[in-house]
Amino acid sequence: MSHSGPVQPVNTAGGPPPSGRLAVFPGSFDPLTNGHVDIVLRSAHLFERVVVAVLVNPDKHPLFTPDERVAIIREVFREYPNVEVDTYNGLLVQYARGRRASAIVRGMRAISDFEREFQMALMNRHLEPTLETVFMMPAEQYTYLSSRLIKEVFSLGGDVAGLVPPAVERWMRRKHETVG
Ligand code: PNS
Repeated sequence: MSHSGPVQPVNTAGGPPPSGRLAVFPGSFDPLTNGHVDIVLRSAHLFERVVVAVLVNPDKHPLFTPDERVAIIREVFREYPNVEVDTYNGLLVQYARGRRASAIVRGMRAISDFEREFQMALMNRHLEPTLETVFMMPAEQYTYLSSRLIKEVFSLGGDVAGLVPPAVERWMRRKHETVG
């Protein structure tokens, strides 16, 4: 069967093809939730390596600094040798190109995510046609989770156990004690 679509080869950034398939999972991760963890673990099964890439500076008032987020995520995935944690600035496609990634991974929780994700995926494809965006659905119990809700519930004294990794809960408690 001939292939007539405009499908491009994977991103080679001008060099030889990547030896293993690398996926970039970008986001703010302020903080990492169990929904994010679910997506990272699914990606780590599909790809040889996954880079959890923390965007630096999108939010003027984050709960955690980018360095803190990196430290937390490293702690959570310390037993997963094919999961790496990094930061990036500026355009995601530039970062992914530099890493010679094959794919951007994004979680898709519900229809409400679709429009924004669709726009981002097509803009990223416009900017870098060789890079695919792969969407994954988290387990149902995490489909209603968001970092924003976790922060709100926690700041109002609600219990977030089971919704974020224990390490995140610990860091949030510590932050709450020091910042108030
Ligand atoms: O966790 P979030 O906020 O849903 O993640 C969004 C993120 C950080 C992946 C996205 O905003 C991003 O990559 N921004 C970097 C700037 C960029 O590349 N913008 C064009 C994307 S269409």
